[in-house]
Amino acid sequence: MLNIILCGAPGSGKGTQSEFIVKKYGLDHLSTGDVLRAEIASGSELGKEIGDLIAKGNLVPDHKMIHLIEHYLDTRDENCKGIIFDGFPRTVDQAEALTLLLERKHMSAVMLDMFVEEDEIIKRLLNRGKTSGRADDNYETIKKRIQVFHEVTQPVCNYYLKRRNYFAINGNNTMENTFAQIDTILQLIQK
Ligand code: AP5
Ligand code: MG
Repeated sequence: MLNIILCGAPGSGKGTQSEFIVKKYGLDHLSTGDVLRAEIASGSELGKEIGDLIAKGNLVPDHKMIHLIEHYLDTRDENCKGIIFDGFPRTVDQAEALTLLLERKHMSAVMLDMFVEEDEIIKRLLNRGKTSGRADDNYETIKKRIQVFHEVTQPVCNYYLKRRNYFAINGNNTMENTFAQIDTILQLIQK
């Protein structure tokens, strides 16, 4: 199986690159942000609890996220070619939990970390905010999301770097050029 953790700041292109990867490699795509937004839209208990957190750019508590991932892994299609984890893990505790959950299933995952300049990220997200309807695509929340990324999520990159399970991607590029870098890495690690 080819399991990928797509990491990167808000607006770095995790969702966009996931679509490219799905198209070429046929992997399953798990965007935790999409799952959480669907919970909010459904009006579920979880959705009611997390709506405000997401709108303000804060993270959903680890135990809820780990439970969600555990459930996903337990109920996934056994025949899938691999999984793209888009937006998970976002804390070191989540990373440690994912390692254990995957090991239990004799699986592992490699991190692709996309770097994009902050000005470019803000530009992309403000532009998307004109039509996305996302409660967190406004200037104040974008700044908060970026701060949370630097303070809490970047240490997760070191977690994978130390385990030699890490590749850096320069996302200050067109979507196609960014995917070309990812594609080269995926070809290499499949050999
Ligand atoms: P999530 O939905 O994951 O949001 P995010 O990390 O802030 O990232 P985005 O989805 O906004 O951006 P992206 O990197 O996917 O970029 P995209 O491809 O869309 O999470 C939302 C919230 O949910 C979190 O803040 C948190 O509250 C909660 N949450 C989620 N996971 C959690 C977890 N594990 N633990 C705790 N809480 C969690 O691109 C952005 C825009 O740029 C698009 O318009 C796109 O068309 C454009 N674009 C993309 N690439 C390029 C390019 N190369 N050139 C020009 N434009 C581009
Ligand atoms: Mg996304």
